[in-house]
Amino acid sequence: MPATPLPLGTIALDTDAASPLYRQLYDALREAILAGRLGPGARLPSSRLLASELGVGRNTVLAAYEQLSAEGYLEGQVGAGTVVAATLPDSLLELDRQARSAKPKAANANMRRLSKRGQALSATRRTMPGYTRAQARPFQHGLPGVDEFPAMLWSRLLARHSRDTRNGLFGYETGIGTEALREAIAAYAGAARGVACTRDQVIVTAGAQAALDLAARMLLDPGDPVWVEDPGYLGARGALLGAGAAIFPVPVDEEGIHVATGIERQASPRLIYVTPSHQFPLGATLSLPRRLALLDHARQCGAWLLEDDYDSEYRYQGRPIASLQGLDKADTVIYMGTFAKTLFPAIRIGYLIVPEALVEAFAAAIRITGHVPPAAVQAALADFIAEGHYGAHVRRMRAIYAARRACLMESLDNELAPWLRAAPGEGGLQLAAFLPDGADDRAIAAAAMEAGIHVTPLSLYRLEAGRPGLYMGYAAIPEPALKRAARDLAGILAASSCPTHS
Ligand SMILES: Cc1ncc(COP(=O)(O)O)c(C=O)c1O
Repeated sequence: MPATPLPLGTIALDTDAASPLYRQLYDALREAILAGRLGPGARLPSSRLLASELGVGRNTVLAAYEQLSAEGYLEGQVGAGTVVAATLPDSLLELDRQARSAKPKAANANMRRLSKRGQALSATRRTMPGYTRAQARPFQHGLPGVDEFPAMLWSRLLARHSRDTRNGLFGYETGIGTEALREAIAAYAGAARGVACTRDQVIVTAGAQAALDLAARMLLDPGDPVWVEDPGYLGARGALLGAGAAIFPVPVDEEGIHVATGIERQASPRLIYVTPSHQFPLGATLSLPRRLALLDHARQCGAWLLEDDYDSEYRYQGRPIASLQGLDKADTVIYMGTFAKTLFPAIRIGYLIVPEALVEAFAAAIRITGHVPPAAVQAALADFIAEGHYGAHVRRMRAIYAARRACLMESLDNELAPWLRAAPGEGGLQLAAFLPDGADDRAIAAAAMEAGIHVTPLSLYRLEAGRPGLYMGYAAIPEPALKRAARDLAGILAASSCPTHS
């Protein structure tokens, strides 16, 4: 593959422009590709190199590369760098002779056999971390304490629904979820989260991820503008990119998503993805004025609001904030929840609560996607909720997690204090802690990982440059192991060149 130098002189990013930096870089690279200045097979600099040459964060470059890959302009193989696609999306319809006779490398040929959507989904592997370990590592985020899950009780409920083939759970009857589970979810979401809905609006999905994928596919056309929180949840970004969305990052502060900046950058989004109860990953709760502004703007511009309420059950102080959906008077909110955080991730049960006008279309579509969890698992979960085990489990875990969180906070206030400061915000299964400006959170996370400590760099979630930090899970780890890991992490930070907070 020829190592074509990138015409860097032609790329100028304007930090004062309304358009985000990653978008400017995306536009510049796309233009260079279409104008032929970057020909098929041309190798692009590594994200690290280009970021340092342009003076921007590495995530800005990664995001531009990710979007260009999603749209078929770039191809990349792990370890082999990123190259301009041999066949550009704009010329796919009239595959020219040259491209057909070219002998591409096998890996690129495989990429070319994928659809644009397939390439978009495949491109998410650059950033989406996978959990492949059987046991949680200290500070791994996203994981509940499955060690405390009442597995014997659960297995009895599963068995109850698996022993009689005449129980209606062995056929195709449960397209959008069993009635009992949809009833239980509607009652729970209404009582605990202030969601206004009937059972008919609930669509059970194979985890929140399937809900995201279904909502993105049903509501977006390729190129539709979408606001995402920055930093934000990679699983949502992946699903949105997979549906062809043009992503507009909107910054987040201690009141949640900054609605006014979103409007400045893209006044007419088709969809807005938010985590209002507990922003992923910074932990802010969306303030009431911002909630009202968001609802108002969504209504005015006809955008859908996708409310991801992934871990609202875990607040350790104060009263839980009711859902955005409960405040919505104009049927703009699509609410989604998951049992992955309250029970265990492998249960693969989540749900969408959609406005009545969308029920029929979503119900038809989910049958086609097949994103539906097994019926016996749904039936066991419906019993688990209806018989009161769910409420009891959440209450019990809330106390356990509060103690685990307090333990991590204590370490942050003591041995980790020179380097880490917990972000404001409260609740959940994990927290974000800021490093001093100038710290390289990826290098620190990599060094920690070598020692078996699974902290995640905050920059991984960012599309634009922002404060460095670490995302730290505590819910899955008992206190003694949290203490030990915090001491080890302090040792790693002390031995690194990481600056300290003044
Ligand atoms: C913000 C957010 N939304 C959704 C999910 C996905 O949940 P599920 O495991 O049900 O797909 C997660 C899991 O980490 C999450 O953090």
